[in-house]
Amino acid sequence: MSAKSEAPTRALNGLVTHGWNRAAQLYNFPILQHLAYRPPQDEIIAQLRISQARRIADVGCGTGILAARIERELRPEVVYGCDASVGMLKRAQSRSDRVRWRNRQAEDLGLPDGAVDAVVSTHAFHFFDHAAALAEFHRVLVPGGLLAIVINNPRSRWAMALQRPAVRGLAYFPSPEQMRSLVGAAELTVVEQRPVRRPLPNSLVPDVLTVARR
Ligand SMILES: C[S@@+](CC[C@H](N)C(=O)[O-])C[C@H]1O[C@@H](n2cnc3c(N)ncnc32)[C@H](O)[C@@H]1O
Repeated sequence: MSAKSEAPTRALNGLVTHGWNRAAQLYNFPILQHLAYRPPQDEIIAQLRISQARRIADVGCGTGILAARIERELRPEVVYGCDASVGMLKRAQSRSDRVRWRNRQAEDLGLPDGAVDAVVSTHAFHFFDHAAALAEFHRVLVPGGLLAIVINNPRSRWAMALQRPAVRGLAYFPSPEQMRSLVGAAELTVVEQRPVRRPLPNSLVPDVLTVARR
């Protein structure tokens, strides 16, 4: 596992990733995975199949379920599983010895320019410094490369208002419109945005897939 960088990130991100060190054990519960995390992973894998990406980075990979699935199901040239939490990556490492696990922040992936054909991320982007992470994704993507992100993108004013400034240091969930303008500001072109398909009403898990091209 490569070393974590000292890149500037969202305030209190150290606290967040320390929390995930502790949560790593609970994270793999099958019911949680099935209802919450598997559907977005299916969406991302479908996008990767369409784009035929051969070099892929999963950013905020957590315990590595998606990165290991990408490796197993798509057999790309290389998959990087990047996360700022050592505890999550320890779990991830036992899942695959073919994925390149990297203890890096989204805002500084430590990859060369144009190193990957696709950057993907599920349920982690709200923790990142959005502008810094998107600039980094732009840097590591080849021209025409794919960006596919899933997070909860609240739509109602009520949900947006709940994100008090005190919480924003830890995480911020942009609305779908905010997501499009953040991605656009990083000179990436949004080509698709829609709710994740899952066997539950979207009001229960309001996550959205945003797909862009460099
Ligand atoms: C909810 S988990 C999601 C894990 C995985 N993507 C999934 O869908 O199962 C969020 C992950 O984001 C990671 N994370 C938070 N801030 C980060 C940052 N700035 N750079 C990289 N990873 C970060 C946490 O350590 C945690 O593993």
